[in-house]
Amino acid sequence: MLFRRSFNLEIFKIFFGRWTLISIVFSGCFLFFLMSMSTSPKTKTTRDVRFIVKQTTSKNSTDTNTYSWKNVQDIIFQPKASSSPTPEIPSDRLLWQQAGFPEGDANPSLVAILDMFHSKMSQRGRKLVNPHSYRYIHNVPNACVGRKVELIVGVPTRTSSFEARQAIRESWAQYANDPSNNAVVLFFLGVQSDKAGQEQIDAEALKCGDIVQEDFEDTYRNLSLKSVALVKWVSVYCPESTFTLKADDDMYVNMPRLLVRLRQQLSRGPLFLLGAIHQNTAPFRDKKNKWAVTRDEYPDKLFPNYLSGTAYAMTSTAAMRLYLESLYVSFLFLEDVYLTGLVADQAAVPRVADSDFNWAKYEADGCKFRDKISGHKNTPEEIRKIHKELFDPNLRCAAG
Ligand SMILES: *[C@@H]1O[C@H](CO)[C@@H](O)[C@H](O)[C@H]1NC(C)=O
Ligand SMILES: *[C@@H]1O[C@H](CO)[C@@H](O)[C@H](O)[C@H]1NC(C)=O
Repeated sequence: MLFRRSFNLEIFKIFFGRWTLISIVFSGCFLFFLMSMSTSPKTKTTRDVRFIVKQTTSKNSTDTNTYSWKNVQDIIFQPKASSSPTPEIPSDRLLWQQAGFPEGDANPSLVAILDMFHSKMSQRGRKLVNPHSYRYIHNVPNACVGRKVELIVGVPTRTSSFEARQAIRESWAQYANDPSNNAVVLFFLGVQSDKAGQEQIDAEALKCGDIVQEDFEDTYRNLSLKSVALVKWVSVYCPESTFTLKADDDMYVNMPRLLVRLRQQLSRGPLFLLGAIHQNTAPFRDKKNKWAVTRDEYPDKLFPNYLSGTAYAMTSTAAMRLYLESLYVSFLFLEDVYLTGLVADQAAVPRVADSDFNWAKYEADGCKFRDKISGHKNTPEEIRKIHKELFDPNLRCAAG
């Protein structure tokens, strides 16, 4: 803008100067210059098609965002029915391993997708920068075998949080115990050096059968790895599931309400993330802050929009897309900014904001949760209390 304004001033001087002839020559050159400017950028922008995703949910707030589609829109991850011809497994086992897929579980359609995806990314000069090739210490590989699962729930948790896991198993995760609800609840862990703690996890995994543990160090700065572990698990072991939910272990989740909302959103399109949105937030630069981000880790002034990590849901198609894309997006320890912001932008997965998801702490009260999907920062006792009240057939709530 500034540039153009000073330029006009120059022209002004030239036209009103005495050298009319020179000014005509100059303006001719200038016109030619303008014309060439207006044609050249076109060739540059054809590769990145910008479009606006606008998902309007009546009263709910809406995330309107400009996504860069970047030529990946033709890869839609829909696992083929078994009647379709099996794609050949490419010989590139190294790629398979780098992407962190377990050797014994080569899912032919996924191998083909990964291969296709990788060659697209290579064409665009993108490198596999964030391989997720950790080994499973505990896994539940058969959770989806022989059944059509509607919802996978992944709860990132630490070895020491046994009480939190138990409260979830005995409350909202009960939803998955009813065979008419096709849901699976799994806990995602890394490893801590504490030997006794690991023995407890081993026993818990055996007894409860819901522990997925990978061999990365379980630290706060490695939190994003647990979310990537979840979308990877869905991609490998349950690609035919419909939805995936990520919820922290201090959350109460109103499962029936969540599913009503997810099914409703699915009718609008197969690719979305759903949750509480954070818009135009800036990174904390003060080193003393728990969430401090250095300029090396993230240079920009603002984060992309993202969904609160307390709880967010997505289609499993979106989960697969996020997993593959995460391999090509540099790691950031803030898992929600990373997966639902940076990676989602690259993967062109639209975020849908829903005010039923919340990162505020609500009073631990069944009535409060009747029209909510999630709250935050509830203790194991509170989680049990909310559940008991919410599902109490005699629950009477004040009007409103
Ligand atoms: C969100 O939108 C849905 C569908 O349009 C509507 O049924 C629901 O009541 C809305 N929720 C809120 C909190 O406005
Ligand atoms: C994350 O886990 C990896 C693998 O165990 C480890 O090498 C690394 O030091 C951890 N990073 C942080 C910041 O804790």
